[in-house]
Amino acid sequence: MPELNPKLDLVGSGFAAFLAPPSPEVVRFTVGQPDFDTPAPVVDAAKAALDRGETTYTRPQGSESLCRAVADHLKKFSINTDANDVVITPGCKQALLYGIMATVSEGDEVLLLSPAWPSYDGIIRLVGGVPIHVPVKREDYHPDLNALQAHITPKTKAILINSPNNPTGAVYTREETEAIVKMAVEHDLWILDDMIYSTLVWSEGGYTSPCEFDGGPERTITIGGWSKGWAMTGWRLGWITASPKIIDGVKKINVSSATHVATFLMPAAEVALGLTEEIDIMNDSFRARRTVAHEAFSSLPGIVVPKPEGAFYILCDITGTGMDDMEFATRALEEAKVQVIPGSLMQDGEGLIRVSYATSIENIHEGVKRLKNWLESRA
Ligand SMILES: Cc1ncc(COP(=O)(O)O)c(C=O)c1O
Repeated sequence: MPELNPKLDLVGSGFAAFLAPPSPEVVRFTVGQPDFDTPAPVVDAAKAALDRGETTYTRPQGSESLCRAVADHLKKFSINTDANDVVITPGCKQALLYGIMATVSEGDEVLLLSPAWPSYDGIIRLVGGVPIHVPVKREDYHPDLNALQAHITPKTKAILINSPNNPTGAVYTREETEAIVKMAVEHDLWILDDMIYSTLVWSEGGYTSPCEFDGGPERTITIGGWSKGWAMTGWRLGWITASPKIIDGVKKINVSSATHVATFLMPAAEVALGLTEEIDIMNDSFRARRTVAHEAFSSLPGIVVPKPEGAFYILCDITGTGMDDMEFATRALEEAKVQVIPGSLMQDGEGLIRVSYATSIENIHEGVKRLKNWLESRA
């Protein structure tokens, strides 16, 4: 038999081993998706589009009105893009693939702030790029700008950022984002900005786009989507926007692969961007859970938890328990019936566990109670 593409061997399986649905009595802190239903007006809009027969091929980059709605949405974050430079993609992940394919060639290095969401590493390797993991500061998970600078080589092509961040919950400050843009300008790098959690910020300040700073707009590829902020993970809808030169490349990749997202989902995605009340209810709930989860996990013996600033994750340092993160996650599942993600599934995540608080306050209390009993029984 002929050989497979050897690059496939370079791609890991991410969190998969710890995402398997456990038995029902287990409290799961592993699932990175909102535990809310997609808002009803969005579902109704998709049904209505189906009833209107919107089931044929359409404009590959996405309907004009949806691209305009995305461009309008992005203005709230000072990202001034033309609707013609927006491409709608099957999920944010596909937008990341397109953005990386358009900018990264064989052997190019891409800087990641680590621990980073594992899919970045896999996507970069699939296109022949080399992910370079630069550890964030352990005390607050913010970028270590000196370390970032020190990892730039003649082969560096791009910096990929994600704020609010999965898995750390950090939201980068304006100053940090500005410094990253400066570095990118100085070394002529692309910035891939995964802003998927941009509407989920619980700290002061909010998400800052690299497009806000001199040199940012022309070198930033902004990538986002509906999955997290609108409770639409299964709809597979994302967007990508950048300067026309990059987007022309992205359009080629899109037309050569997906063609476009499902036609009848586009009016629904547009309705989603216009919602406020439904989104506020979800965000108020996440804000409250973040406080509860942070306090509860901080109370556990041997565990230190920097305060999460956005998204719905907290990253706990469990080194004080005397266990490594694999042992912690494996035993927590077996002995305490609590499922968490061990940090060492990500580069530079050793000694950490990721907790998703996209679950009810009752579950948070119950899960933490079990962990407390388990940890104290070991003392
Ligand atoms: C940082 C980050 N980017 C992108 C995605 C993928 O988004 P989508 O489901 O829209 O492909 C995720 C999902 O977990 C994520 O955490």
